[in-house]
Amino acid sequence: MAKFFGNLHLVLAAGLLLAIIVMFGAHAGLVDANTIFRWLHVFFGITWIGLLYYFNFVQIPTMPKIPAELKPGVSRHIAPAALFFFRWAAALTVLTGLTVAWISGYIAQALTLQKPYLLIGIGMWLALVMAFNVWFVIWPNQKKALGIVPAEDAVKAKAATTAMIFSRINTMLSLAMLYCMVNFS
Ligand code: HEM
Repeated sequence: MAKFFGNLHLVLAAGLLLAIIVMFGAHAGLVDANTIFRWLHVFFGITWIGLLYYFNFVQIPTMPKIPAELKPGVSRHIAPAALFFFRWAAALTVLTGLTVAWISGYIAQALTLQKPYLLIGIGMWLALVMAFNVWFVIWPNQKKALGIVPAEDAVKAKAATTAMIFSRINTMLSLAMLYCMVNFS
């Protein structure tokens, strides 16, 4: 038992098998590219936003309370691993989200904010801005702040502040974005 649950890959494979049984058992005949991409989209979306909330609700507020000698545990081990899943989940959320809009036949109408697609269009643009912030602001600045690329102490401190501000901007945007995602039909 402990051996099985101690192996994340095996547990994920079992979860996937269970999902496939549900798809072809309870949803037989209705599984298509749209249902698959919608499901993958939500999987990557919650992985991305879950890690965003981990950074904002747990890691950033707790860091100042951690004794200096223990901080490298977070900055050298936990944060880089979390950032890996964070940025790739963001990219895959965008890819699967745009695919859902494309398969559904309204990608152009949504991105140009046309009336019946206004809500999902706003949600998509909010999420696209957030994904841009992840890849082009938060990640490059975190690389400096965490010492993944070399930087002077003053540059590191400034990079950490910039990353924090944009992480907070994404947290702020996420509430409206989620409303749009779940209420468009
Ligand atoms: C640029 C990024 C994103 C794009 C392009 C995008 C696009 C879409 C599209 C087109 C839909 C389908 C709407 C419909 O036809 O019913 C959708 C649904 C949804 N999205 Fe996103 N989305 C993005 C980011 C996110 C994020 C970050 C989350 C966070 C969890 C998320 C969660 C959801 C959820 C829960 C649904 C509802 C699925 C359903 O009810 O079938 N999306 N998104």
